[in-house]
Amino acid sequence: MEHEVLHLTRTHISHAHMDELDSVFYEASARKDFLSPEARAAFRDLWLGSYLTHDEQETFVALDEAGHIAGYIVGSLEDPAGQPRYATLGYFEQFAPLTRIYPAHLHINVASQHRSRGIGADLLAAFLEHITAKASPGVHVVTGQGMRNVGFYLANGFQQLAAAPWNGRTVVMLGRKLP
Ligand SMILES: CC(C)(COP(=O)(O)OP(=O)(O)OC[C@H]1O[C@@H](n2cnc3c(N)ncnc32)[C@H](O)[C@@H]1OP(=O)(O)O)[C@@H](O)C(=O)NCCC(=O)NCCS
Repeated sequence: MEHEVLHLTRTHISHAHMDELDSVFYEASARKDFLSPEARAAFRDLWLGSYLTHDEQETFVALDEAGHIAGYIVGSLEDPAGQPRYATLGYFEQFAPLTRIYPAHLHINVASQHRSRGIGADLLAAFLEHITAKASPGVHVVTGQGMRNVGFYLANGFQQLAAAPWNGRTVVMLGRKLP
């Protein structure tokens, strides 16, 4: 199936596409149960909403043949270590020496029925080209040790740089320098 990657800001994402984007986000998210609607909204804001608002230019979506959202990537050029916005993500204290070298970061999700067809690689390529043009020196992601997505990042030029215990599990930081 063909897909198309678009560079969109929040104001150019239709309501229908925003709903689909939320569906892809909640489907892919490891966390499914929330104590309150506010907790659910805060979770969405931390991993998706704040990027759409504060890092509007760093948003890319993939549309399937029928024009529905198949996946998205959001991210930021700013180093998250020490920023109040990411204060709940305690692992950045340990990763701070590395995030200085790889300050940009991203969050990517592809709807389950669209995975393993290159959509993730295309979204990532578009994002990396964009942040390279903005002179970012490097990019990182943090994910769970042993997660299948580690293979996706390694296949796309990232290297594992560090690991840290967090919330009863081990998270790993992977990074890629940019030209
Ligand atoms: C990780 C992810 C974004 C990759 O997108 P994608 O469109 O499936 O990626 P591509 O088709 O370009 O590459 C797929 C390859 O990446 C690897 N991969 C890593 N994680 C994967 C996953 N959860 N599902 C499928 N493939 C995955 C595999 O090696 C796969 O190769 P294959 O085609 O032989 O199965 C997507 O699978 C996804 O959204 N997964 C669930 C959410 C997630 O893990 N997001 C990242 C959070 S840090």
